[in-house]
Amino acid sequence: MLIVLLGASALGADAIQDFLRRHWSRPLAPQGPPPARYSPLEASLHPDACGSCHPAQLADWRESLHAAAMGPGVAGQLIEMRESDPSSALSCFTCHAPLAEQAPIVAQGNTAVANPEYDAVLGGQGLPCAGCHVRRHERFGPPRRDGSLASGAPRETLPHGGVTRTPAFLKSEFCRDCHQFTSDGFALNGKLLENTYNEWKASRFAREGVQCQDCHMPVRRHRWRGIHDAEMVRSGLTISAKADAPRYQPGDVAVVRLRVTSTRVGHAFPTYVTPRVVLSAELVDGAGQSIAGSRQEKIIGREVALDLSREAFDTRLGPGRSATLEYRIKVPARGARARLAVVVEPDAFYAAFFGVLLRQGAGRGEAQIRQALDAARRSPFTVFERELPL
Ligand code: HEC
Ligand code: HEC
Ligand code: HEC
Ligand code: HEC
Ligand code: HEC
Repeated sequence: MLIVLLGASALGADAIQDFLRRHWSRPLAPQGPPPARYSPLEASLHPDACGSCHPAQLADWRESLHAAAMGPGVAGQLIEMRESDPSSALSCFTCHAPLAEQAPIVAQGNTAVANPEYDAVLGGQGLPCAGCHVRRHERFGPPRRDGSLASGAPRETLPHGGVTRTPAFLKSEFCRDCHQFTSDGFALNGKLLENTYNEWKASRFAREGVQCQDCHMPVRRHRWRGIHDAEMVRSGLTISAKADAPRYQPGDVAVVRLRVTSTRVGHAFPTYVTPRVVLSAELVDGAGQSIAGSRQEKIIGREVALDLSREAFDTRLGPGRSATLEYRIKVPARGARARLAVVVEPDAFYAAFFGVLLRQGAGRGEAQIRQALDAARRSPFTVFERELPL
């Protein structure tokens, strides 16, 4: 009996892998003509159309980075790349705007030609609902919340012919194709540039069955908050600031420790090379002014050269690991305080990269790259700040 059960669950896992291989086999095929019984609303691939019946998902998705995946930083680079290097340009679309209807060009042998299926509005919408849920106009989705896979009514009586439900939507593997380079993908210092799924797989979260969706889509919400969201970042960390003595005299050497522990991040913190997290300590006087020369920093991140030719350092935190800034400073006067902070720069790499791109010339993408640079520069935020009297 036990053997039969194990066999059945192994088959289940195979069925999920098979489904995902087909579902994410890219480039995705064009949807083709919709079934004759579909209304124009059911036939539409536009998120607004889905949202007229699924308003909660639309409202969440709109604010998410998936909706912004064809933002100015990507689109601005694609304008010139489409002509100078069409195969690279097409590779960007596979993650940033994956539907066949979203790319203005399509591969034909070794060249690229205009895409007859191209829908310019959809093209600007990044990763739309249909990118995850629709293939050949058929809807795919997770099991019902009670776990069942059945339709409540005959499928042909339901809008868009109902839904093909599969547990694959509940698994980290659903997210893998875009958030994990394949083992032959680009690596630096022996480590893939994008390795989020493998980092998760090696973590205690995978062993405990906690999937990407459990942290990034709680109660099935479509927000996908990550390193750009202060509350999300805080949810994954435990941060403490302590001095080694309750009080010091002027002239004493104070020792203050600022510690960041990754307690609920399901992969490296941060997982990509693009963010930077800065732990800092400085002295402030009685008036709250920082005292020149007193600042020290520690960086959490994987810093790579802008041309991706080398890795400078990798101080990211694996799940459960900590980084500590140990601040030793001579107390200058009574009333001095230590100010400790943790600042997240989610787009640190891009802030530098877009700057260089503009100096080298971004061609017809210039206005968009400038917009992306401004957004990258505005992205830093503080997740922790405290002043300790010394
Ligand atoms: C005319 C209204 C309508 C439109 C338009 C529509 N849907 Fe639906 N959708 C429904 C209804 C009703 C159900 C519930 C069907 C059922 O119970 O099996 C549903 C179910 C779903 C489900 C499964 C939901 C669940 O509860 O598990 C998904 C996923 C889905 N739709 C995706 C989409 C996407 C993506 C689009 C746009 C490309 C879309 N739908 C457009 C009405 C619509
Ligand atoms: C394997 C999937 C994948 C491919 C292929 C890919 N990207 Fe991305 N890209 C991502 C992910 C995931 C992020 C989000 C990283 C983050 O936010 O930390 C991202 C982020 C970005 C960003 C920063 C966010 C933004 O919208 O400005 C830019 C710019 C970008 N990619 C450009 C490109 C370009 C250009 C290409 C093609 C040469 C490309 N990407 C190919 C997955 C991919
Ligand atoms: C990145 C892929 C992705 C995109 C984009 C996406 N979804 Fe989903 N959707 C999922 C996954 C995964 C689930 C199951 C999540 C879970 O159970 O944790 C889901 C679940 C759903 C459900 C079932 C919700 C429930 O409460 O049972 C509906 C309906 C749905 N999506 C509609 C949409 C609509 C409409 C859009 C666009 C506005 C959209 N999705 C965009 C991946 C996606
Ligand atoms: C078709 C490719 C694709 C799939 C599938 C996909 N993503 Fe993404 N995801 C992206 C891209 C591209 C970005 C970056 C968007 C940008 O900023 O330009 C992104 C961004 C994100 C972010 C925001 C990162 C940040 O910088 O804060 C999170 C979180 C995320 N994805 C989680 C998920 C999860 C969880 C799943 C599975 C349910 C998933 N993604 C499935 C392509 C994908
Ligand atoms: C235990 C909860 C948890 C799990 C599981 C988890 N994440 Fe995250 N994730 C977070 C938290 C918290 C952040 C914000 C801190 C950070 O950026 O590392 C984050 C950030 C991200 C980011 C932002 C980019 C970056 O450089 O950090 C992406 C993309 C992402 N997660 C994708 C995924 C994918 C894909 C999976 C599954 C393979 C996954 N996450 C599993 C909690 C989780």
